[in-house]
Amino acid sequence: MQIFETIAELRGFLREARCQGQSIGLVPTMGALHEGHLSLMRTAAAENDIVVASIFVNPTQFGPQEDLAAYPRNLEADARLAAQAGVTAVFHPSVEEMYKPGNATWVEVVGSLTESLCGRTRPGHFRGVTTVVSRLFNIIQPDRAYFGQKDAQQVQVLKRMTQDLCFDIQLRVLPIVRESDGLAMSSRNAYLSAAERQAALVLSRSLAEARRMVETGERDTAMLEATVAAFIRQEPLAVIDYVELVHPDDLKRRERLETISLLAIAVRIGKTRLIDNTLLEVP
Ligand code: PAJ
Repeated sequence: MQIFETIAELRGFLREARCQGQSIGLVPTMGALHEGHLSLMRTAAAENDIVVASIFVNPTQFGPQEDLAAYPRNLEADARLAAQAGVTAVFHPSVEEMYKPGNATWVEVVGSLTESLCGRTRPGHFRGVTTVVSRLFNIIQPDRAYFGQKDAQQVQVLKRMTQDLCFDIQLRVLPIVRESDGLAMSSRNAYLSAAERQAALVLSRSLAEARRMVETGERDTAMLEATVAAFIRQEPLAVIDYVELVHPDDLKRRERLETISLLAIAVRIGKTRLIDNTLLEVP
C-alpha cells in the first residue's frame, strides 16, 4: 500500500491504473480508523480493482468551538489497518494541499437538507463536508464512493451534491457498525471516560425502545419523539441536542410514521457529542 501526500502524485498513480482499465473505489475518512471505516474499505476492496482511502481531518467542517485540535490522529496505525482492509492507496494531504492559499471556492447544498438536524447546531458543517468531498471526487474521480449510514444526513447531502454537480460516481451506503453492547462506533468514542462510555449506551437503547413502540403499533411522530427523549433524559450524563423522526430522503418531519422513517438523534455525553439513527419500518 502506498501513501500519497500530494494531489499530483496521487493523480499520477491513478492515471496509470485508469489506463489499465482498473475501477477505483474511494473511502473518505478523517482517520482514527475503527470497524465502521474498515467495513467501508473491505466492501470497496471487494467491488473495485483499486481502493483509495483518504485520511484528512477536514478543518472546514469543524465549528470554532468544536474539537478540531483534539480530534484523534494516528497515521501509522491507520495505514496498517487500511492495508489489512485491502486499501491500495492512502491519500493523506496537508491542509495547505487541500486548501491552497487564497482559497475562495465552496460547495454548498442549501436548504432543508443542510439546515435540519445537525445543521441547526453545527452551522457550516455540511458546507465543509461537501467542499472537501467534491474536491476528493475531482482529484480521484472514483467509480464508486463509500459512506456509512451512521451519518445519515451526510449521506443525503452528498447524494444531492453528486446529482446536482453531475458527478459520474455511484454512492454506496453501508450499515452502521456497532460495538457488541450496541454503541455505534465513532472516532469520538475515544473521548469518553469509563462512566461516559456506559452512559453513551442510552443512544442505541433509546432507538431500540422506539423500534419496540413501532412494533406494538405506535405511529405518532410526536409521541415517538417524546418517548425517546424521555428515555434519554433518564441518563444524568446525557444532554439532548435533537431527537427527530423524519423522512429518510428529504429529512423533513412528518406527523405520522410512513412506510419507512428515519429516527435520528444527537446527544451530548459530557463534552462529547454523539449521533446515532435507525430506520423505522412500518410492518
Ligand atoms: P469520518 O467520521 O471519519 O467517517 C468516515 C466514513 O465512515 C463516513 O462515511 C462515516 O459515515 C463512516 N462511519 C463512521 N462510523 C461508522 C460506523 N459506526 N458504521 C458505519 N460507517 C461509519 O464522515 C466523515 O469522516 C467526514 O465527514 C468525511 C466524509 C470524511 C468528510 O471529511
